[in-house]
Amino acid sequence: MSGIKIRGTGRFAPAKIVTNDDLAKIVDTSDEWITTRTGIQTRHHCTTETHTDMCVGAARQALENAGISPEDIGACVGATFSSDYLSPSAACMVQRGLGLPHDAVCFDLNAACSGFLFAIHTMECLLAQAPRKYGLVLGAEILSRVMDFGDRSTCVLFGDGAGAALVEWGANYPSLHAVLGCRGNSEVLYVPGVNTAAPPHVHMDGQSVFRFAVEAVPRCAREVLDRAGLTPEDIDLFVFHQANQRIIDFAVKKLGIDPARCPGNIERTGNTSAASVPLLLDELVGGGAITSGQKALCVGFGGGLTWAGALLELA
Ligand code: ACO
Repeated sequence: MSGIKIRGTGRFAPAKIVTNDDLAKIVDTSDEWITTRTGIQTRHHCTTETHTDMCVGAARQALENAGISPEDIGACVGATFSSDYLSPSAACMVQRGLGLPHDAVCFDLNAACSGFLFAIHTMECLLAQAPRKYGLVLGAEILSRVMDFGDRSTCVLFGDGAGAALVEWGANYPSLHAVLGCRGNSEVLYVPGVNTAAPPHVHMDGQSVFRFAVEAVPRCAREVLDRAGLTPEDIDLFVFHQANQRIIDFAVKKLGIDPARCPGNIERTGNTSAASVPLLLDELVGGGAITSGQKALCVGFGGGLTWAGALLELA
C-alpha cells in the first residue's frame, strides 16, 4: 500500500482581528448571539495582505518546519474559491513566490470548505506519478471579500486565513482512506460567479446547511474508520471543519467520542472554509497535540454541497 504522511505544517493569519462587538457596530447583531449560536468570538480579516501573501507565507512555514527545500517539491495543490486571480491559480503564485521547480504540478481546486481534504487526496494520487515525492497542499480564503456586510446571517460567521501541509509520498506509507462526496446544490449555499450580474457574495440558508452538516460529519468519519478498519479508539485526534461549535458538538455526541479529543479554534478564527482544517492542524502540530506517528481523522463539509474525510498521519 502506498500513501502520504505529513512532514510539516504552516499557517498565515492576517494581522487585523475583528471582534463580535466590532461587527455589532455595522450590522444588527450582538456578541451574545454570535457566541451562543456559533462559538465564534473573533476572526481575522485581511487589510493589506493578499491571498498570495497568505499562501506563500503558510507554504514557506510548512517547508521550514519540514526541513524541505522548494526544489524538492513535485506538486502544489491549492484549495480555494477566493484567490487573487481567477487565473493564474493560487498554486501558480506559490510556485513563483517560493521558486518551486517548473515541472512541479501546480493548480487549484474548489470544493469550498471541504477543499483542503479534496486537495490532500488529490495530492496522494498525484505524487505517485510526480517528479519528486514531496507536495505542498494549501487551503486559503479571503472570505471578507465575498461577504455582504449588510447580511447579518452570513457576515458574522466567516474569516480569512491560510494553512499549508508539506506531505511526503511513500511506497509503504498508509493510505489516507479518503471519503469524498458531493450533492450538487446551488440553492442552500452559493457564491455567484462572473457569468451573473450579482455581486460575488456568500448566500446561505443556515438551517439547511446545519441539517446537512450534522448528518454528513459523523457519517463521513465512520466511513473513513470503516475503510481503514479502525474504531474511534484508534484515533488520536478528530479535526473537524470549524463552521459552528454546535455542529461539532452534535458530531462528537453522535460518534460517542470524548470532546477533549476533538479540539477546535473556531472562537479565534470563525469559518475560514478551505483554510479551516489546515489552520487547526498547524495549531495542533505546533502545540504538540499531534506528534510523530499519531493519527488525526479530519472531516470537512460545505458548499457544493461537498463532504470529505481522511486519516492524516504525522511522519
Ligand atoms: N445576529 C442576531 N440575530 C441573527 C443573526 C445575527 N448575526 N443572524 C440571524 N439572526 C436571527 C435571524 O434573523 C432569526 O431571527 P427571527 O427568529 O426573528 O427570524 C434568528 O436569529 C434565528 O435564525 P436562524 O437562522 O434560525 O439561526 P440558527 O440558530 O440556525 O443559526 C447559523 C444560524 C449560525 C447560520 C446556523 O444555521 C449555522 O451555523 N448553519 C451552518 C452554517 C455552516 O456550517 N456553513 C458552512 C459551510 S460554509 C461554506 O462552505 C462557504
